[in-house]
Amino acid sequence: MKTIQSLFLSASLLFCSQAAAETSTDGILITNSNLVDVMDGKLLKDQTIVIQGNKIIYVGSKNNAPEGNWNNIDLKGATLLPGLSDSHVHLTSNANDHGYRRLAVSTPRSAINGVKNANKTLLAGFTSVRNLGAPGYADIALKEAIDDGTVIGPRIIASGPSIGITGGHCDSNLLPFEYKQKAEGVADGPWAVRTKVRQNNKYGAEVIKFCGTGGVLSKGTKLGAQQFTQEEMSAIVDEAHLLGLKVAVHAHGSSGIATALNAGVDSIEHASMITDAAIEQAVEQGTYLSMDIYVSDFILSEGEKAGILEESLAKERKVGRIQRERFQAAVKAGANIAYGTDAGVYTHGLNGRQFKKMVKWGMSPMQAIQASTIGNATLFGTQDMTGSIEVGKYADMIAVPLNPLNDVTELEHVDFVMKDGVIYKNELSE
Ligand code: ARG
Repeated sequence: MKTIQSLFLSASLLFCSQAAAETSTDGILITNSNLVDVMDGKLLKDQTIVIQGNKIIYVGSKNNAPEGNWNNIDLKGATLLPGLSDSHVHLTSNANDHGYRRLAVSTPRSAINGVKNANKTLLAGFTSVRNLGAPGYADIALKEAIDDGTVIGPRIIASGPSIGITGGHCDSNLLPFEYKQKAEGVADGPWAVRTKVRQNNKYGAEVIKFCGTGGVLSKGTKLGAQQFTQEEMSAIVDEAHLLGLKVAVHAHGSSGIATALNAGVDSIEHASMITDAAIEQAVEQGTYLSMDIYVSDFILSEGEKAGILEESLAKERKVGRIQRERFQAAVKAGANIAYGTDAGVYTHGLNGRQFKKMVKWGMSPMQAIQASTIGNATLFGTQDMTGSIEVGKYADMIAVPLNPLNDVTELEHVDFVMKDGVIYKNELSE
């Protein structure tokens, strides 16, 4: 088992040797790989990939690869996949700071947590994520620090603070009245919520997150209770779309899900009690369902130690199984499924554990891999540059020794990680 420090070190060493290699070569030539083609849903044997700068410039047989002074990486028959993606993470939160413990975590401290968690997420093979909810725009700061090379992590699409009603799932309800505590994204009424959307846009949000029902982890909220009226949800979505931003709604209960679908949201997070009619509407509208069907295992086994309130554990006991059954129904109906896990509620870096659940509850391994690559990229709006290994796209790719189409748990331990043409991890030869 490697320590965090040595992972940091090996990542930076690889980074340096990569940079050095690039000054003396034309780029990277990857040979002997079996490539998961997520566009056509097949495995292509013995593929060669050429990377120049941060882009893929060739995919095909070795014989036809362009001439050049390449830095050759022999994958020795390993399986190469596009970088994985998670549509729902909280990089600035730690899985052992739940319930009242969270009140002791300052925004600067959460940004520092984000640095460590971003590193872990990337080294687990997740080269892009959506961060849905963070205090004080710590997520935007993290994204900027990753993009300019200050710290190591995945590509991030960040929401800033989540928008929610007074006393709702996205408020902070832990302290009594006299503390006058209120989360940053709290707003009531159509114009007030529009202002919050505009403010998040002003400070760099690239997606809008709001809470449309109660939640598991918030104190005193009901999963089935809708939060925000139709008028307020429609105002949020309209304002966000005017500004060119997509909208993700947190929604467990069916009336909140139905109202958010009518408002035209782009993705429904959790979607635990989605009805058949709502699944049908999601299929028609192309709305993505980002159903976090792994996290229940963590909450029920580790939650109490992690500070999760007893009332939250009780809610999870009721909803976990229902959510998995509704996931199965959504897969059967052919809905767009995103790969979203709510990492941060459980330990960062274990994002790959949800693959097994998705396969158990109705997807083929290829479908689950497509959800976490080209599926998420399409939801993010980045499908022209990420989500598959194709000429012209960013060189974001991972490799595992065996074939994940036979056993998807292979993706729980990723041995090779490249993002933007830079190799952050290569343990294939060890
Ligand atoms: N953040 C979510 C909430 O508090 C977590 C839900 C986890 N449970 C589940 N079955 N997906 O509502």
